[in-house]
Amino acid sequence: MTLWNGRFSSQSDPNMFALNASISFDQRMAEQDIRGSLAWVETLTQARLLTQEEGNLISSGLQQIRDELVSEEFDFIPSDEDIHTAVERRLGEIIGPLAGKLHTGRSRNDQVATDFRMWLLDYIPNLENALRDLQIAYIERAENDLMCSLTPALSQGKRGPELPSPAGRRARDEGQYIIMPGYTHLQRAQPILLSHWWLSHFWPLQRDLDRLAALKPRLSVLPLGASALAGTPFPIDRHALTKNLGFDQPSPNSIDAVSDRDFAVEFLFVAALIGAHLSKLAESMVIFTSTEFDFFELDDAYATGSSLMPQKKNPDPFELARGKAGTLLGYLTGLLATLKGLPSTYDKDLQEDKVPVFNAYDTLMALLPVIANALRTLTINPRRMDSAIDASMMATDLADYLVGNGIPFREAHTLTGQVVKTALKKEVSLETLSLSDYQSIHPVFEQSVYEVFDPQVSIARRKAFGGTAPEAVKEQIKICKSMIED
Ligand code: ARG
Repeated sequence: MTLWNGRFSSQSDPNMFALNASISFDQRMAEQDIRGSLAWVETLTQARLLTQEEGNLISSGLQQIRDELVSEEFDFIPSDEDIHTAVERRLGEIIGPLAGKLHTGRSRNDQVATDFRMWLLDYIPNLENALRDLQIAYIERAENDLMCSLTPALSQGKRGPELPSPAGRRARDEGQYIIMPGYTHLQRAQPILLSHWWLSHFWPLQRDLDRLAALKPRLSVLPLGASALAGTPFPIDRHALTKNLGFDQPSPNSIDAVSDRDFAVEFLFVAALIGAHLSKLAESMVIFTSTEFDFFELDDAYATGSSLMPQKKNPDPFELARGKAGTLLGYLTGLLATLKGLPSTYDKDLQEDKVPVFNAYDTLMALLPVIANALRTLTINPRRMDSAIDASMMATDLADYLVGNGIPFREAHTLTGQVVKTALKKEVSLETLSLSDYQSIHPVFEQSVYEVFDPQVSIARRKAFGGTAPEAVKEQIKICKSMIED
């Protein structure tokens, strides 16, 4: 028995039935379906379409179904086309023909749109918590990876005979700030604090959380009462129903109410963007855990081996994050493609909306905790990061040195380029190029020029708000913490 067989004289072809059925995935909305029905019963009772006694009977039947679902005693049967059918069928078994009054004045079209919105409103908080936990992992890393104790090999020897500058010496007396090479185009660019880099991944997630929060008012528009497409003919108080279900407002247009899936697209967009953010981290992690870089080593619990090559330790969680970002994007483009050809109101195509949303949610809920804990447990290799910084990465500081001596930046840039060219020609580094070579390029160069090649000095200079200087990063950590507390 389906909910619609009256005008039909034969059964569906079994393959047709299987194609049409959505129970395999929409049973995830059972709780929302029952909650929606319980509120609908109250509405029907208030509108005197059910007596109080009928209302109570239907409600207690629905409560029993809820209990059966929770305790997994609910038996789905082959004719349960979707969750709405299954609940109504079971209600009939429990309370008899009175069950047939529940669907008065509503349609599965407004029902499914309501259930789906409720599901997202119920489950988005879990995603928000998982995102917040990853943000906390970034803050923990930023705090713990700010400094390491002074190890002579870290700062001496490699950078030639020059003494560290006073600022550099000061930094080293307190311990050494952990610096990594910052890249643009994946080419060595400028030194940055490792903590600053960690926090660069905090902020995209903050924007994702903002986007999820911004989605909520649009999710919280109640379709129930729109019926099939034209609105319900009974004296239903949709405002009271809205309040009862905890929605912000009833949908103002019944046609739009049953056809709108913008909220699902928006959710998938945010999910795809979260995927892209995780992928950005992941790509860096794959590179930075390679033997060539060796900046980080994953804990054994968050890496896998090779069935053939015994030496391998692979960064699978990050590769999976990178890979799943593609899948998440696919869910978004898939649903958009489904929607683009539809006329207004309900079309069965819309049944395709749920699987990508559930899958996107499941994907992120599987991924986020693993990524957070893989980050928490990895070990860093400050020495490797330090040794990947060479004097050429302070070329901008060298230009700034000239600017500090009154030379316009454009000219300073050209002069610094000449310094780089000279050093390349002489096969020396910028910090071992002789002072007379510097002075032949411009007389303003003095012995103090060698101080710019201290990366601790380079980062300490970038103390404007949002920069990589330790004091700016410490301020940033405070802001990040306050965002989490909010
Ligand atoms: N399973 C359907 C869906 O997910 C429920 C709505 C069915 N409506 C209809 N007119 N056949 O969209």
